[in-house]
Amino acid sequence: MLSRVVRPTVAALGRSFSVSSQNNAKVAVLGASGGIGQPLSLLLKNSPLVSNLSLYDIAHTPGVAADLSHIETRAKVVGYLGAEQLADALKGSELVVIPAGVPRKPGMTRDDLFNTNATIVAILTEACAQHCPEAMICVIANPVNSTIPITTEVFKKHGVYNPNKIFGVTTLDVVRANTFIGELKGLDPARVSVPVVGGHAGKTIIPLISQCNPKVEFPQDQLEALTGRIQEAGTEVVKAKAGAGSATLSMAYAGARFVFSLLDAMNGKEGVVECAFVRSEETESPYFSTPLLLGKSGIEKNLGLGKLSAFEEKLVAEAMGELKGSIKKGEEFVKNKK
Ligand SMILES: NC(=O)c1ccc[n+]([C@@H]2O[C@H](COP(=O)([O-])OP(=O)(O)OC[C@H]3O[C@@H](n4cnc5c(N)ncnc54)[C@H](O)[C@@H]3O)[C@@H](O)[C@H]2O)c1
Repeated sequence: MLSRVVRPTVAALGRSFSVSSQNNAKVAVLGASGGIGQPLSLLLKNSPLVSNLSLYDIAHTPGVAADLSHIETRAKVVGYLGAEQLADALKGSELVVIPAGVPRKPGMTRDDLFNTNATIVAILTEACAQHCPEAMICVIANPVNSTIPITTEVFKKHGVYNPNKIFGVTTLDVVRANTFIGELKGLDPARVSVPVVGGHAGKTIIPLISQCNPKVEFPQDQLEALTGRIQEAGTEVVKAKAGAGSATLSMAYAGARFVFSLLDAMNGKEGVVECAFVRSEETESPYFSTPLLLGKSGIEKNLGLGKLSAFEEKLVAEAMGELKGSIKKGEEFVKNKK
């Protein structure tokens, strides 16, 4: 009984947190001491899919690593501190997840973070391109609509670009949509599955409620309110935290869900599908989030938008201007960087 209490199975943490397959993945977390980085590292340490956990930050990683290393799971945890240890943190990594960067405060948009976070993401992905060019790169740092184009341009500069291995983590939008629909319809949110497409900021976040499984119906005014709540859910948390940051715990859950899905697919599990913001030819925007079939080498197939309602088509059309602007801003940043 005791062991059940102190050692919950990873599967209990979420629908795709598999315990069935064993893996020996080395996973690096860049920004591991932060509000997202610490609980995300905890969830990764608790997974049998991870054999080596490399924790990098510019502050506090010796403490975070020492703390996590006492947990009775097999993943070996090593902390790396400061730029001179970044290369060692990355060497041999098969998957890198990047929650480094400043979060929003009340009144800020994700784009307001651009100046600080663009530089951080460029520095970190440059190191990835040099020291683990084959790794899957999962970027959590905002603005995701710009940090993914930045990652792409950095990898291109180093001649190691593979569009199937670079992901903007938008899983939290899916997690929120599932939760809110579950609440409204009296369903177990763990059994609700809604694709969320587009980007990861305000109006660019587009839940495809017409494709929800199980099928759900809402009157138009409720549908609009629900869509608006999903789009502004991050701001709901920023306001509630009143200056102490943005979503960290739910983001750690969502980040872990995405990482475990990707590791499962890399391990050969079939039929693993997650939405993520990636290089895309599905719309006129060069990057777009859609459901992706994941495989051993990253994206196996982009499953596209599917059939949209007229309301969803309008949302996609309205998102294009902002999306393209944020993408261009990211691309220009790398072009103009000395
Ligand atoms: N994709 C999403 O859905 C989503 C959701 C929530 C938050 N976020 C974003 O995640 C990022 C992190 O949020 P947080 O709440 O954890 O912030 P935080 O300030 O609590 O933690 C950020 C961490 O990054 C570290 N860091 C800063 N510069 C670094 C560098 N050059 N190298 C390595 N580490 C560095 C800091 O030391 C800190 O430990 C923010 O950009 C936030 O906007 C994304």
